[in-house]
Amino acid sequence: MAVNEKNPVFSPDATFDVEVNGERHVVNCDARTTLLDLLREQMRLTGTKKGCNRGECGACTVLVNGSRVNSCMMLAASTRGAAVTTIEGLAKEGELHPVQQAFIDADAFQCGFCTPGQLMSAVGCIREGHTGSDEEIREWMSGNICRCSAYPQIAAAVAAAAGREV
Ligand code: FES
Ligand code: FES
Repeated sequence: MAVNEKNPVFSPDATFDVEVNGERHVVNCDARTTLLDLLREQMRLTGTKKGCNRGECGACTVLVNGSRVNSCMMLAASTRGAAVTTIEGLAKEGELHPVQQAFIDADAFQCGFCTPGQLMSAVGCIREGHTGSDEEIREWMSGNICRCSAYPQIAAAVAAAAGREV
């Protein structure tokens, strides 16, 4: 236990190592910090969005060991030793990830606020093999809300990307 200087109340600190977008970090944070806040506030990876902050919208979706999670619902410390991929880690060597290109080709966004979460979820959805039909894609992407209602284009982008290597 240690005193958190920003908060006079005793709070537990957590120190752990985690890989983020291929880079290993040793992190020290309040043990109550969510993965979302660690990424946005401490690592300044602000591509991952905070929509509802309570597991309802999917804007905060990232991959942890290849599986999609709502980072607002996960304690940062529980990623000890894990590999986290955020939207900033999707493109490689200046080349867009095929799912990113598919979203552009299908015009699958309007304001773009939900898009990082949609993209990360789409990568997970394709890897999981839930792309057999439009209905299946919509079902397995249903945790990602788009208030601009770009759902038809998003489903089309996921379907198009499913045929490519992801
Ligand atoms: S911000 Fe995490 S689900 Fe909405
Ligand atoms: S593109 Fe605006 S919320 Fe989805």
